[in-house]
Formats: sequence, structure tokens, C-alpha cells
Amino acid sequence: MSQLVRAKISALGTYVPPRVLSNADLEKMVETSNDWILERTGIRERHLADKGVATSDLAVEAARKALVQRGIPATDLEAILVATVTPDMFFPSTACLVQHKLGASGVWGFDLSAACSAFLYALQTGAQYISTGMHKKVMVIGSDVMSSIIDYTDRATCVIFGDGAGAVILEPAEEDGVGLIDYIHEVDGSGGNALYMPGGGSLNPSSRETVEKKMHYVHQDGQAVFKFAVRKQTELCEKLLKRNNLKGCDIDAFIPHQANRRIITATADRLGLRPESLVINIDRFGNTTAGTIPLAMQTAVEEGKLKKGSLVMLASVGAGFTVGATLLRWAY
Ligand code: UT7
Repeated sequence: MSQLVRAKISALGTYVPPRVLSNADLEKMVETSNDWILERTGIRERHLADKGVATSDLAVEAARKALVQRGIPATDLEAILVATVTPDMFFPSTACLVQHKLGASGVWGFDLSAACSAFLYALQTGAQYISTGMHKKVMVIGSDVMSSIIDYTDRATCVIFGDGAGAVILEPAEEDGVGLIDYIHEVDGSGGNALYMPGGGSLNPSSRETVEKKMHYVHQDGQAVFKFAVRKQTELCEKLLKRNNLKGCDIDAFIPHQANRRIITATADRLGLRPESLVINIDRFGNTTAGTIPLAMQTAVEEGKLKKGSLVMLASVGAGFTVGATLLRWAY
């Protein structure tokens, strides 16, 4: 793929709400144990938003940090893309709410729905506006309040998810050797019923019945998603490496969606990645859906794994199914 202008990530901001739900807390809520959760998922704790705190609130906190890091006002942005599966409401879009809360007058934007792959899909969408020269500053945000759609009596799902957000600013890469290099995305709608929230849309509009049948919560066939995730994430990453004449061991930082520690390590083994390149923070945040990849970027920065020129591979699998893989060189 050739791009007219390569886009780069010029700033990163992240936010998780302060309230922590630990495995010990969950032991008191459902029939589970710290050992089971840790062994099967790698999660120790997750952060949850308080009542009344919405996806746009988390997004704005992350966005402000990215703007401060870059040293620009919100009005310098040209577009805001929000990746989320838990918008504040069906409409207006969360992007509109974020634009207003940031005071980013004159900016346009929209929401993008691709579940756990939404951040990668929004990143590449934003990058196209940079590549064509249409825009010079695009903000891409992944934000989810998963606790708003989780049934905290269902042990199969409530131990996994958390709330969180991350934001990046995309700009033209003015120097060679940094920025977004290539990506491969794929969706497979045949997996739609392995992970979904059936209620509230046009098929099953909200009603007493949809509430009684718990249709406004996440439903997941964990094993089906797990198997698809390992197979497909590996396949797309392999293709991406191959067509860029790279090997797994060339990657400096592998920053995957954080759904399950075992999915990450199984993918990494198959790709021949160096253990020190893996970025894993699922123990602290759980699965924050669109938030995981920017939150893991922040962890990679803190762990010293992202330096200017570092070769980074991002990867995701989510409801849909949606799959994504992106190669880039870190720009600062
Ligand atoms: O980001 C979106 C993408 N989502 C994913 O990638 C999720 C992928 N799937 C997974 O991560 C895993 O499948 C889970 C973590 C969801 C489940 O782990 P698993 O190893 O696949 O467990 P399982 O569903 O096969 O269940 C094994 C056993 C069952 O008991 P029996 O039938 O063997 O007696 C479950 O009832 O574990 C039981 N179980 C639990 N036990 C204690 C399920 N959830 C729990 C729990 N605590 N929270």
C-alpha cells in the first residue's frame, strides 16, 4: 500500500476512572475466585466508572492529556473520531459530545463501531485524512464504559471487562522512518452471535421484554471467540509481516488488544515475537474494548518500549468478528 503522506502518532493521552474492582471484590459478587480469573484471563483488577460518568467523559479526559502533551488547543484539531461500542446514547454521536466538551469549535467528527477493533479501524480511517492531505491534525479516541452493558450476576463476562479510554493525535510525518506503515483489516460477520448485545437496536427495540430477557447485556461464547482470536490475529499479523519483509523478531513492541493474557501469549509464540516486545497490562485494566490499545501504548511508553523509530505491531480481534493488524514506527 502506498500512501501520499505518511501519518504519524504525535501524542497520546489515556484515562481510567479511579474506582477499582478487584478479583477479591468479584468473589463477593459471583461464584468465582481470584485463582480462576488470574489463570484463565490474567486479570487482577479493572477500573469502573461511577454512575453518571459516560464514555464521552472518559474520552475527554484522555483527549485533554493528548492535547497537553502536544501543546495545542482543541481548536487546532480538524476531526475527532471516537471508537466505541458504548456511546453515551444512540445519537448524537459521542464525537459530537466530545467536541463540545473540549470546546473544539469548527471541528467535525463521528463515531466508529467495530467493538474491540474499533481503535485500529478509527486509527486507519483518521490516517487516510492525513495521507490525502485533507487534514493536518486528527484526534482518534478509543473509549468504552463496558460496565454499562455488563451483567454483574454473569460470572462468564463480568470478570473480564473494565472501563477506560485513550486518545492519539495523528499528523503528517514530516521525516522519513516514522509513522504508520501498513495495515490489514478483515471482518467476518458469521461470528456475530459469538459476542453481541442483542437488545436496544432496530431489531429488538428496548421494551420490558428485552430488559427481562437481559438483552441489554453482553453475551459471549468465550471459547469460540478465543479460538477465532488466536487463529485470525496470528494470520493477519503474519501476512502483514510477510508483505513488509519482516519477521516476528524484528518487532520492538507488540501492542495487542487486551482480551485475555493467553490469547496474547499464544499469538506471540506463533509469530516468533521476542518476549520483551510483548506489552501486557490486562492485569490492571481488564478488557476495556476500544480503550485497550491506547492504554497499552501508554504502558509501553512507561516500560521504555516505545522510542523514536521503534517498530510497533498493533493487533486486535473483537465482536463482529472484526480483526485488525497495523505496523508503524513510533514517532517521538
Ligand atoms: O474483546 C472481545 C473478545 N473477547 C475475547 O477475546 C474473550 C475470549 N475468551 C476468553 O477469554 C475465555 O474463553 C474466557 C475467559 C471468557 C473463559 O475462559 P475459558 O477457559 O474458555 O473457560 P470456559 O468458558 O471454557 O469455562 C470453563 C469452566 C466452566 O465450568 P465447567 O463447565 O468446566 O464446570 C465455566 O462455567 O469455567 C467456568 N467459569 C468460571 N469459573 C469461575 C466460567 N467463568 C467463570 C468464572 N469463575 N468467572
